[in-house]
Amino acid sequence: MNHRGGLVVWAIILIPVMLAAQIPGYGTEIESRIDAMVAQMTLDEKIGQLQQYAGGESAEHREMAAAGRVGSFLNVRGAESTNALQKLAVENSRLGIPLMFGLDVIHGYKTLFPIPLAEAASWNPELVERAAAVAAREARACGIHWTFAPMVDIARDPRWGRIAEGSGEDPYLGATLAAARVHGFQGMDLSAPDRIAACVKHYVAYGAAEGGRDYNTTEVSERTLRDVYLPPFAAAVRAGAATLMSAFNDLNGIPASANPFTLTDILRHEWGFKGFVVSDWNSIGELLNHGIAADSAEAAWRALSAGIEMDMEGRIYKNALPGLVERGLVSTAAIDEAVRRILRIKILLGLFENPYTDPDLEKQMLRTPENLAIARQMARESIVLLKNDKNILPLSRSARVAVIGPLADRQQDLLGTWACEGEAGDVITLLQGIRSAAVKPDLVLHARGCDVLGSDRSGFKEAIQLAKRSDVVIAVVGESADLSGEASSRADLALPGVQEQLVQEVAATGKPLVVVLLAGRPLTIPWIAEQVPAILMAWHGGVQAGSAVADVLFGDYNPSGRLPLTWPRTVGQVPLYYNHKNTGRPTNEQKWSTKYLDWPITPQYVFGFGRSYSTFAYSHLSLDKNEMGPRAMLTVSAVVKNSGRVAGDEVVQLYVRDLAGSVTRPVKELKGFKRVYLEPGESRKIEFTLGPGELGFHDAHHRHQVEPGRFKVWIGPNSAEGIEGDFCVR
Ligand code: GLC
Repeated sequence: MNHRGGLVVWAIILIPVMLAAQIPGYGTEIESRIDAMVAQMTLDEKIGQLQQYAGGESAEHREMAAAGRVGSFLNVRGAESTNALQKLAVENSRLGIPLMFGLDVIHGYKTLFPIPLAEAASWNPELVERAAAVAAREARACGIHWTFAPMVDIARDPRWGRIAEGSGEDPYLGATLAAARVHGFQGMDLSAPDRIAACVKHYVAYGAAEGGRDYNTTEVSERTLRDVYLPPFAAAVRAGAATLMSAFNDLNGIPASANPFTLTDILRHEWGFKGFVVSDWNSIGELLNHGIAADSAEAAWRALSAGIEMDMEGRIYKNALPGLVERGLVSTAAIDEAVRRILRIKILLGLFENPYTDPDLEKQMLRTPENLAIARQMARESIVLLKNDKNILPLSRSARVAVIGPLADRQQDLLGTWACEGEAGDVITLLQGIRSAAVKPDLVLHARGCDVLGSDRSGFKEAIQLAKRSDVVIAVVGESADLSGEASSRADLALPGVQEQLVQEVAATGKPLVVVLLAGRPLTIPWIAEQVPAILMAWHGGVQAGSAVADVLFGDYNPSGRLPLTWPRTVGQVPLYYNHKNTGRPTNEQKWSTKYLDWPITPQYVFGFGRSYSTFAYSHLSLDKNEMGPRAMLTVSAVVKNSGRVAGDEVVQLYVRDLAGSVTRPVKELKGFKRVYLEPGESRKIEFTLGPGELGFHDAHHRHQVEPGRFKVWIGPNSAEGIEGDFCVR
């Protein structure tokens, strides 16, 4: 048998096994082990598995661990600390059931990557997966078994600070990256020493918070829930996600942490989810604030019966479940089912066989050159070139450069929101990166000009004088990390403080000016967008941010980032997203159409937008059929040519529109994308296939199907441009 034949045989044997290992679920051996364990457990020990506590350093925590009354700790870091607590559970408790250690490893453990929204701007699922795998390798080496990531909340409102943590506004891009991160964290075997369990959050529609205010009410129709907010979760579950986390928000009157429709009907009955759900921090206890539970007992009853297995730091289950069982309001079968789901993940993680972490691993796995190289590449590919008039970029390495602005030489902020175990000292700032790339570093000078916040302009003079003595000015402005992320919603999306005024005064010197934005969200910059010739969005780019920005500024990397969101001109336009409905009065800038009197209805930059140092031309759109049945597949292709002078990546995007349906349909929907690297003058035919998965939607009865009718299709560089075709579904 030749090598190939042997491979085929092994593939036939191994793939089903590996898939079973990847997807938390049945395997008779695992289920038998669970049966035997549950049969031995007391009610107290069972309820103990449903508890997660933060910290683990108190005497009470240690006592509970030693008594087998803790399922998991979060925020315990390092092999030494986790091993000490694990020893109590494994060697002191009656049954020796190991603990799971969870942590918010959202965009890196020690090697911090760009924030997830920035990673989404790379439109590179393979690289996103590699970044998650690095995070898993570093975290598991430090005793962490479980990350509270990926955060996959669709966000159409940048006032919401947590837009930074997700993949933006689009369900297709969001679903693709959700699956990539689950694969990166979990691999094919959760028990491997470099993998961790994923926890897809926040289930569900947390990003639809009214007013963009974190934790606020969400009202989302079932169809919008199914076509916009659920797809990334469904993709993550299909990818084998071990756990989910329920959200804080009131969802259509039933809080997401006590919602049987989403947690049981959809997640378990429709999707067949076999893992477990952990609440968000005391989100079960918050059911009292929501006014959906009169007391802790009712909160516990509602959450457990809806489908929450583990109570994060709320102590609601700990205090209320024994009484509920005693009163017959919660069955032991319900408790057993919750315990089984948790034990299943602990078994898949290999914790019974290997409960401890080798303390030497930390030194081997953290900040390796390979990890840093991946962080630099991710930061490079996340940078979006928004404008480059007169090709002011790339810069000459021997230029006299004035680097101005409060964020130019700040390390902590580049770690972004959820800095985990990242250390500010590891961060290469933009000033450091630019100096390292310059031929004459001593010609790269810096003036802060102002702070991120506040009205103090006393530093303007120094900045302006420095600008006048330079060949080019790079203004590094934006948000500090603490203006982004959880509990950091902003009602005004302008540059904070007097940063815009600093840019305006520096611009008035007439020197060539580049603005580099560092933020966790799009900022409203109408004046800068109009007046400044070159603009980069570099987000909060992680430990390698400064090197990556310098790579782009000096042309060592041709920028390829594309916006994963719609960028508003003013906050009054929000929510603003590309896959909107047409309405009965589509905007035509005439009076009686949907628009504003005082601002355009168009965004500053459209979804999928990003420039390059090269240019790309699209031609030869081709469909292999113009008419098809509802179950058929359609192949659509176009030729993309690098019509510029430098090589680079183009993100080729495919959009469709269902012109008439049984319900109103978006004017455009992303249904495919491919990154392609092209040398100058090189052309490539890029193909996509469209079928029920892409053309279907939830109709008036919430059935997912493809309806007959006419469709348009575009292949292009973003959601506003492209070559167009059409086809018909019979
Ligand atoms: C926080 C966040 C959640 C995080 C959890 C644990 O409140 O909402 O995303 O995973 O608590 O830190």
